[in-house]
Amino acid sequence: MNSKYIKIMEEIKIQIADGSVIAGSKLPSVRQLSEYFSCSKNTVMKAYAELEKEHLIYSVPKSGYYVVNEFQKATEINEVIDFLSAGPDKNAMPYVEFQHCINQAIDQYKEELFTYSDHQGLYSLRVQLVKYLQNLQVFTEPERLVVVSGSQQALNLLVSMPFPNGKNNILIEQPTYFGFIESIKLHQATTFGIELSMEGIDLERLEYIFRNNDIKFFYIVPRFNNPLGHSYTNSEKKKIVELAEKYDVYIVEDDILGDLDPNPKSDPLFSSDPSGRVIYIKSFSKIFLPGLRIGTVVLPALMLNNFLRYKFTSDFNSPALSQGALEIYLKNGMFNSHLKKIKEVYRIKMQILQEACELFLPPNTDFSKPTSGFYLSISLPENMTAKQVVHMLNEQHIYVDDASRMFLPEYRKENLLRLSISQVNENQIKLGIERLARCISLIDSRKNHNTPNKHLLLF
Ligand SMILES: Cc1ncc(COP(=O)(O)O)c(C=O)c1O
Repeated sequence: MNSKYIKIMEEIKIQIADGSVIAGSKLPSVRQLSEYFSCSKNTVMKAYAELEKEHLIYSVPKSGYYVVNEFQKATEINEVIDFLSAGPDKNAMPYVEFQHCINQAIDQYKEELFTYSDHQGLYSLRVQLVKYLQNLQVFTEPERLVVVSGSQQALNLLVSMPFPNGKNNILIEQPTYFGFIESIKLHQATTFGIELSMEGIDLERLEYIFRNNDIKFFYIVPRFNNPLGHSYTNSEKKKIVELAEKYDVYIVEDDILGDLDPNPKSDPLFSSDPSGRVIYIKSFSKIFLPGLRIGTVVLPALMLNNFLRYKFTSDFNSPALSQGALEIYLKNGMFNSHLKKIKEVYRIKMQILQEACELFLPPNTDFSKPTSGFYLSISLPENMTAKQVVHMLNEQHIYVDDASRMFLPEYRKENLLRLSISQVNENQIKLGIERLARCISLIDSRKNHNTPNKHLLLF
């Protein structure tokens, strides 16, 4: 190989060093450079490959070569910044205490481990769950509870089973939890959407849909929506229940993050339901351990037997060992002190995240402002997609989620990012958002200025 590739490398290095090539910008194509330097494409490719080895540039498949940003280089030696994972904060999990409960449960629930246990769930756990639910303003009795293998199981069964109102269609907020969208897709359930923003939903539109669209149930995440972080006010929740009553629609209330609500006066929809139309679902995956696979559903008496038939054909019963250990953990008061601790952990992380968004995000973006929970969403400028930002950040080991899969096709937004605070380290939040903001500005400037970079075309 000739030394021409070294000359090309040197030219590019000089332009990077003197700032005439902006970090993050696209370099000329292999063909353009081979014409400029009157050399073969192989020579240019060799130059680019060597610059890549020196971490001065990077390639994006089917796109081309880009100049590495200083902040990209810095992250290479840093750890991952994880705004993607939605499991609970590992550092706030009480493994050791829970280990004791598991050991006790093995002893105490030996019988249940050797047989199939009650498919409604261990009675002793249901008693503890009734007490726990009272703190969330959900007043019920063990006979109306079913222990499920995670709230996903309850959702999936409710999508598939008939309801007492004899209706067929499902209504969901847009956007909403991806696992529910997957479930309706697989069951080919006819589904309507209602647009949700941080200002809530249009209640007149809700009434119109309830009246005209044969709605079996409305699936709602009333506190800290996944992905927006939105929560309803009590009066909105009351109004929704009234409309459900008026038009004989059931409500499936997924209160997965309800325990994290710092507002002690916020009530679930279940508490203003006079006629048993609200089905309340609570999971232990976000506030405790997702590996337990334990959640619970409070059902209207009218639906209980049928739900149990569906549950029975799904898995006979939820894991007895998990149920027994959770019962012991709830009974001895450990759970309440754990809850107190994590409420503070997530509230503080969410506050830091919002301060960072306020400080760093460019003015042509917007972000939601939840009081706690796991999720905050960022609306990107119209000229860029979440996919582009996710891709660029991944290269810097920063992980965020593209929220486009959390929409039905007709509501789909390509420019919404979901950030989860659950597993990110508190001291990485600011750095992560600063880099996210720089990515957005970079992509924006690339869109506004013709690429490839004009300086390099001067070669
Ligand atoms: C809103 C919502 N509901 C339900 C689930 C399912 O949780 P699990 O089945 O672990 O209880 C999730 C999981 O992320 C979720 O975000």
